[in-house]
Amino acid sequence: MTEPGRGTKIAVCGAGSVGSTVAYAALLRGLADEIVLYDIATALVEAQAGDLNDGAAFAPPATVVGSDDPAACAGADVVVMTAGARQKPGQTRLDLAEVNVGIVRSVLGSVREHAPDAIYIIVTNPCDVLTYAAVGFLELPPGRVFGSGTVLDTARLRYLLSRRLHVSTRSVHALVAGEHGDSEIVLWSSANVGGVPLAAYDVEGRSIRASEYAEILDTVAGSAYKVIEGKGATNYAIGLAMADIMSAVLRDEHRFLPVSTLFTGQYGISDVCLSAPCVVGLHGAAGPAVLPLDATDLAGLRASADALHHQNRLLGL
Ligand code: 2OP
Repeated sequence: MTEPGRGTKIAVCGAGSVGSTVAYAALLRGLADEIVLYDIATALVEAQAGDLNDGAAFAPPATVVGSDDPAACAGADVVVMTAGARQKPGQTRLDLAEVNVGIVRSVLGSVREHAPDAIYIIVTNPCDVLTYAAVGFLELPPGRVFGSGTVLDTARLRYLLSRRLHVSTRSVHALVAGEHGDSEIVLWSSANVGGVPLAAYDVEGRSIRASEYAEILDTVAGSAYKVIEGKGATNYAIGLAMADIMSAVLRDEHRFLPVSTLFTGQYGISDVCLSAPCVVGLHGAAGPAVLPLDATDLAGLRASADALHHQNRLLGL
């Protein structure tokens, strides 16, 4: 594990609520010496950067730059793509797909010219479809383009289980995999609490029964919809999730994270991006590790891959 060196630079494309919160979370964690917000909305991007710089006295040293010029992203170590049309109440992530494929292509196409050596992380929804599109057109080495995937859904799951079991989220080791969206699954067979398999966990009368799994998955998968209904968008949790992912990259942490990457035969799945645990570090995200899954989890992962294949085909990707 290494500390980010001098000159570390993060570029965030999109200065809306997600992009600005990603920048804010990165700033608070001291992840980079320079954080660039890039957006074609000049007044917005300058205002967001100005607001963040006004807080400089309260955060680790860093410069925040707001620009409507993709050249401002030159030399970035990490480029985070958040620009796109936002998910409206009741709208599925797929509804957004067509318009956001166009936005991702045009924004990252111009940023890539200035930051050819960066790691590209796609947050814009539908995350897995857009990651697949970006892998295709950015033409970078494997692992240098990946999506935030189910890192956020995994945090939602850990929070929910921690509340029910009255233990810290840090003691809950359970992963959401597959699509960042409606077909996502929980890898129940590998879930454990403090090292005890979830299925066997029973402390002070607190346990999670298999009969509760479906309802827990529904709650996790529905979290974003619920937040969007109340406030129009989600931003804080994805900002924190992205700071964690960027820390894994910039500090070369080699952490297992469920990010969305291109499958090339793992679990019998090919030519589609979705989440399964991958080792994340300075190299980006290595291809998904093949873990021993039980038949139910494996079938769920494959069904999610099928759903995404279908979405990619509908979009002509
Ligand atoms: C989220 O899950 C909407 O993808 C966004 O918060």
